Amino acid sequence: MILPTTDRTAEHADLAALVASSAELIGSLQDADGAYPASPTFSAYAGYSWFRDGAFIADAMSAYGRAESAERFFDWCARVLESRRDEIGAIATAASAGRPVADAAMLPTRFTFDGRAGDDEWWDFQLDGYGTWVWAVAEHVRRHGTDAARWAPAIALTVDYLASSWQRPCFDWWEEHAEHVHVSTLGCIAAGLRAAASLGVLDVERAALAASAARDVGAFIEARGVADGHLSKWIGSTAVDASLAAVVGVMEVVPAASALGTGTIAAIERDLAVDGGVHRFVDDTYYGGGQWPLLSCFLGLAHARAGDIDRARALLAWAASTAGPGGSMPEQVERHLLAPTRVEEWIERWGTSADPLLWSHAMLIRLAVALDGAPRSASFPVSASAPQESPA
Ligand code: BGC
Repeated sequence: MILPTTDRTAEHADLAALVASSAELIGSLQDADGAYPASPTFSAYAGYSWFRDGAFIADAMSAYGRAESAERFFDWCARVLESRRDEIGAIATAASAGRPVADAAMLPTRFTFDGRAGDDEWWDFQLDGYGTWVWAVAEHVRRHGTDAARWAPAIALTVDYLASSWQRPCFDWWEEHAEHVHVSTLGCIAAGLRAAASLGVLDVERAALAASAARDVGAFIEARGVADGHLSKWIGSTAVDASLAAVVGVMEVVPAASALGTGTIAAIERDLAVDGGVHRFVDDTYYGGGQWPLLSCFLGLAHARAGDIDRARALLAWAASTAGPGGSMPEQVERHLLAPTRVEEWIERWGTSADPLLWSHAMLIRLAVALDGAPRSASFPVSASAPQESPA
């Protein structure tokens, strides 16, 4: 439907207001020491910060011009990693001796705001966030010209960790299937290693290690992580997962406009998108398997990179439509549920699903900036016009 101009203007103003209030919300909830809470109120997430969510949130804040917020998160990541220097050394040494440590001895995926593992049981061994935070640092440096030297020791530790362990099966973005090697996890690792090699802050030997491991991961994805012309959910699977949109879109491990990139976008559209809402994967039962606004935004970023700006805008509008009256964005909405009979068990276990989820707000910001640029008041080192990011 083509809206009359006045409605379009109103729609644009609403979206701009939602983007601005999203950045305010994230800024106001960021812990003094830099951690971004995943969700301040949801029982199972409260009190924890994930490297995965946080890295994408930092990338969005950076793109929006809130450089200081992103940098405080990177400082927090660096402190977490440096406090585990001995542990990371032991993990890398054991792996190179052919006696890798047990999954339970690998780094956790989430931490309390003061950098501890916390006392709650979790599906903790996930490698993706360790690549994603370094990728986000490099994106930030590219945008703002920041000197990354202060994060160099932590980036070096991350390279040692990932280069020694990337082949290991671990839980995926959705904290499931620890028995598989997940292609979106590999994509995040490749993006992080590539970023580490290119930042120019590592010693020659480590930079070379990062570059060669990045090449190995990329070659492995191409050789084993493709099915029917699209990236696959895990090695050996023919299914697709919406998290793969990040690998072809915002992270550009696979160029969005390449045959594999467009094949992956098409498979996500075909199997996981209904209207503009995007499911995680076809067998999802978590809170009934609803649609995730952050995934509509990742898919929108991939479309934008591939050149389909209209579809990217439609996905952004859909994501914005999930905001509640107070502007709060949820983790998922109960539209087109894949497993309607599975909602209740999760409500009984953890209460209603996460709302707000800071990662949802962040991806709305990130896609909006990719399409329309950051606001002029933001702290970009720029000129007369609002800074435009290259699409995505
Ligand atoms: C999701 C993760 C996410 C976490 C915190 C989980 O339900 O599966 O991807 O990192 O929530 O937002």
